[in-house]
Amino acid sequence: MSTTEARTEEPVFDAEFVNDLHARYAEIRGTTPVQRMRTQNGLPVWVITRYADARAALADPRLSKEGARIREVINANLPPDSDRRAFDDSLAAHMLNTDPPEHTRLRKLVVKAFTSRRVEALRPRVEEITARLLDGMAERSEVDLLDAFAFPLPIQVISELVGVDQERRDEFRAWTNDLVDADRDAAGKAVVAMAQYLVELIADKRTHPGDDLLTALIHATEDEDRLSDQELVSMVFLLLVAGHETTVNLIGNGVLHLLRHPEQWAALREDPDLVAGAVEEMLRFDGPVTHGTFRFTTEPLPVGDQVIPAGQVVWVGLAAANRDPEQFPEPDRFDITRDAHGHLAFGHGIHFCLGAQLARLEAQVALRGLVERFPHLSPAAPLDEVQWRFSTLIRGLRALPVHPHG
Ligand code: HEM
Repeated sequence: MSTTEARTEEPVFDAEFVNDLHARYAEIRGTTPVQRMRTQNGLPVWVITRYADARAALADPRLSKEGARIREVINANLPPDSDRRAFDDSLAAHMLNTDPPEHTRLRKLVVKAFTSRRVEALRPRVEEITARLLDGMAERSEVDLLDAFAFPLPIQVISELVGVDQERRDEFRAWTNDLVDADRDAAGKAVVAMAQYLVELIADKRTHPGDDLLTALIHATEDEDRLSDQELVSMVFLLLVAGHETTVNLIGNGVLHLLRHPEQWAALREDPDLVAGAVEEMLRFDGPVTHGTFRFTTEPLPVGDQVIPAGQVVWVGLAAANRDPEQFPEPDRFDITRDAHGHLAFGHGIHFCLGAQLARLEAQVALRGLVERFPHLSPAAPLDEVQWRFSTLIRGLRALPVHPHG
């Protein structure tokens, strides 16, 4: 076993890489289980590309997500002249940035409020919002599917679920957008604005409790433990960002691939009950999260025949793992009838996506609604010219122009 030294040609995770993501990953995965790359800021990151390794890494306690230390690790690994140091971000003190036992404690409290029953109870409302958005599309001969449908649906749902005021929702979209796109100054400003709003929102819910998740979170207790105000702010922040930026792209990327494979669209049109399997294949084939969030090695970590040294930033390549031919035969074939079971699009282990049930519900309702209402949906621009957003975390399109009526 050897410690992988810096390779002479380290790929850079830039816009070009993102535009050719799956081909680039296929090349790397075929060569090495772990590849040292650089972000555009010059930060070295180690990307795990094979399914079995990725799944094991997601459950490995030697990979930590502890927020304060990860900032140190990132800053220590950045080139000395970098002006892109990770900033101390109070909103980031949430469970996705903690290890056990803190993670266990936070997750227990939120699970109490974010129950399966609460999610399933949203179904009629999701159907209503979907129908209204589809009505809006029906009046037009050409629309951007993201703008008209894929964005507003999850935003409306998560905002209602959490209890964000109607009039603040556009601001929220702008803030979360600034957070995941790679402009640091805009992200810093968005963090401050969101934190301020969330503090006000929580104060308001304390005096005016509602039938919403935030009120339930305020009152959630476990062995007399409860969330502090600071924990509430970061928890709500996590739910809102996760609920805004992911499901959008599940719908967007999924519809892109259905349009690229008209026979699959036709199969779904003939039998809308294929929708649950279709959503799983959409998650596997081109899910909304490229890598899991940042992790770092607390000690040397063997991956296949390589070792990642201690104190290094690691990306678990969800998108790469989901196209590993060892796990999914003919992985580059998009097939809504295949068994996509076991994909890693929602992560794995203790940080497995808390919103998976909600995301599946929304995507299934959305897709069924779309195919039933617009059976002849067609692209309004060449599909091989689509532009991907540049983000290290999110995999999503800039736009998807379609003709709803064909
Ligand atoms: C965690 C994906 C929708 C809430 C995660 C992780 C992934 C993921 C990959 C783990 C990240 C890691 O381990 O580094 C997705 C995808 C979604 C989606 C693909 C949509 C298709 C949602 C929604 C919500 C949500 C709608 C909230 C309502 C969360 C939370 C965590 C999480 C709270 C952190 C869990 C923990 O740390 O224990 N998600 N997510 N997600 N997701 Fe999602």
